[in-house]
Amino acid sequence: MNVVLNNMTKRYGELAAVNACSLEIKDGELITLLGPSGCGKTTLLRMVAGLLMPDGGQLFFGEKEMTLASAQERKAAMVFQHYALFPNLNVRENVAFGLKAAGIPREEISRKVRRALERVDLGALGYRRMDELSGGQKQRVALARALAVEPNVLLLDEPLSNLDEKLRQSMRRNIRALQQELGMTTLYVTHDQQEAMAISDRIAVMNQGVIQQLGRPYEIYDTPRNAFVADFIGHANILKGKVLSRDSGRYRVLLQGRERFVKSKKSFVDGDAIELMIRPEAIQFSENGIPANIQWMEHLGSIVRYTMECQGTELLVDRVNALSTKRDQIGDAVRVEYDDDVLVVLE
Ligand SMILES: Nc1ncnc2c1ncn2[C@@H]1O[C@H](COP(=O)(O)OP(=O)(O)O)[C@@H](O)[C@H]1O
Ligand SMILES: [Mg+2]
Repeated sequence: MNVVLNNMTKRYGELAAVNACSLEIKDGELITLLGPSGCGKTTLLRMVAGLLMPDGGQLFFGEKEMTLASAQERKAAMVFQHYALFPNLNVRENVAFGLKAAGIPREEISRKVRRALERVDLGALGYRRMDELSGGQKQRVALARALAVEPNVLLLDEPLSNLDEKLRQSMRRNIRALQQELGMTTLYVTHDQQEAMAISDRIAVMNQGVIQQLGRPYEIYDTPRNAFVADFIGHANILKGKVLSRDSGRYRVLLQGRERFVKSKKSFVDGDAIELMIRPEAIQFSENGIPANIQWMEHLGSIVRYTMECQGTELLVDRVNALSTKRDQIGDAVRVEYDDDVLVVLE
């Protein structure tokens, strides 16, 4: 079932916690709301769940308007960061909770609980108490409880943020595989950009209650619309240039002492100041390149991240770890180069 959010808004006094957010989650699609703490992700998710009523806008599940419908009527299942499991109930009883509340017959509950627990590999732990489970297992119980009701929409609010890094990575694969297998329409919330990139069909980058950009992970990464998106997703060098002229659909730009040709959806006139983004991994070391000076180096395992001074600007440069990177030292004079077509014009 597809879900449509149309100008959804929530105010707390003067603050628009969610400000006219519009989005369509297609049937079976996983969209992630990605943004810093306090940007309005949870508020938006709770309005879709029916736990919070909007001040403006509309919400549709398929053809049906759900803007002010009760949570029960929507049949949206939510998974919370802190799991929100009942400590006095065992695993099976926790998973059965929503089904019992819906008045489903006992044998059917039993069957659905078993299936949900098998889906998250907890078939053997049905009689465990909550305090006998690890964080990852609790998280799987919460997921099983959400899946057991066969919801129209699955909503997950930072479901992995209480787990350690390795477990987070394996859990996000499990969640994604299950979501795809079940064809579940899903809205996922995280502040972790790698998690968002790894599991999403599309990402909605949020800041201050507003969706800044919506697109497939690599669209967002390769062609961020503005400096906020560029900087929030991955690492970005934001460089200031000057438009020299327009030349058959492209702009001739002066950047770091060199002329570049860039494409832009936004129009400029000669002499305009222009902001361009380039990713650290799109910059190479090159004998005839622009002079730069290594100011800092971090060996991050698979890559080495350099901070350089280059034409009065600080430049991050990533290089795959190799024998050659081990010879570089802080203070070294080097030369770097990049292609025109990796430069992204920002709004
Ligand atoms: N019940 C509330 N009363 C007042 N302000 C709130 C309330 N809930 C959230 N906010 C504010 O709304 C903004 C968005 O919050 P939230 O949706 O929880 O952000 P996120 O989930 O992205 O961290 C924040 O500035 C937060 O302080
Ligand atoms: Mg939140």
